Amino acid sequence: MNSDLPVIEPAIFEAMRTQRAMRRLKPDPVPVEYIHRLIWAATRAPNGGNVQPWRFMVVEDSAKKRGLQEIYAAEWAKYIAGRGAQKRAEVSERERRSLELTLERGQYLADHLHEAPYIIIPCGFLLAINSGIASGSSIYPAIQNLMLAARAMGLGTVLTTLHRQNEGAVRALLGIPEDAHTAALLPIGWPVGRFGEGPRRPPSEVTYWDSWGETRDFEALL
Ligand SMILES: Cc1cc2nc3c(=O)[nH]c(=O)nc-3n(C[C@H](O)[C@H](O)[C@H](O)COP(=O)(O)O)c2cc1C
Repeated sequence: MNSDLPVIEPAIFEAMRTQRAMRRLKPDPVPVEYIHRLIWAATRAPNGGNVQPWRFMVVEDSAKKRGLQEIYAAEWAKYIAGRGAQKRAEVSERERRSLELTLERGQYLADHLHEAPYIIIPCGFLLAINSGIASGSSIYPAIQNLMLAARAMGLGTVLTTLHRQNEGAVRALLGIPEDAHTAALLPIGWPVGRFGEGPRRPPSEVTYWDSWGETRDFEALL
């Protein structure tokens, strides 16, 4: 913390700063108590009307994890052939290294997903009181809570959604009903690499004041 603002809980800022996509996870076991705590953190999240429209599928069975990996890897292959190839063609020289690293790590995840000791699939129910982008939005604060809790305990994870391209196969594998939407697929495990800060645009560039497009110069210090 190097600004003079009073901070009562500095650790949460550090967790936010260093919570990033961890796609390389060790197969080493994770005691189930960690999973209990992750779900606890998820279920503390804000949600529409406090209806708590969520269920958390925890997958530890080897055959089911392998099934998820096969579904995910097939979608990853399509992504790489389409959007991935397009990104490669468009990327500037300066950003090439970072893109190649992300794609390499993405490939690693697609190949090794089933080796993570747990895969969690947070499922959300759509709320009629919300519409458009907000209709399924109650599940994502819960996912972010879970990811920050994982960071706090030294566990790696990454929010993935590619499985949604073949959500029917995931439903069939795990018996998920039609009204429960699989918002994400999160491998959970001890990370191979180190946590660090992800590249993000400065807050001043993405903040408008009073009128759309009106930026101000400011520096937000942690
Ligand atoms: C809605 C959403 C969907 C994502 N889907 C995938 C995915 O299917 N596969 C994957 O490897 N990463 C996925 N990610 C992770 C992003 O690529 C990652 O958060 C982003 O590149 C920033 O990474 P960093 O925190 O390490 O900087 C997804 C993230 C979000 C928020």
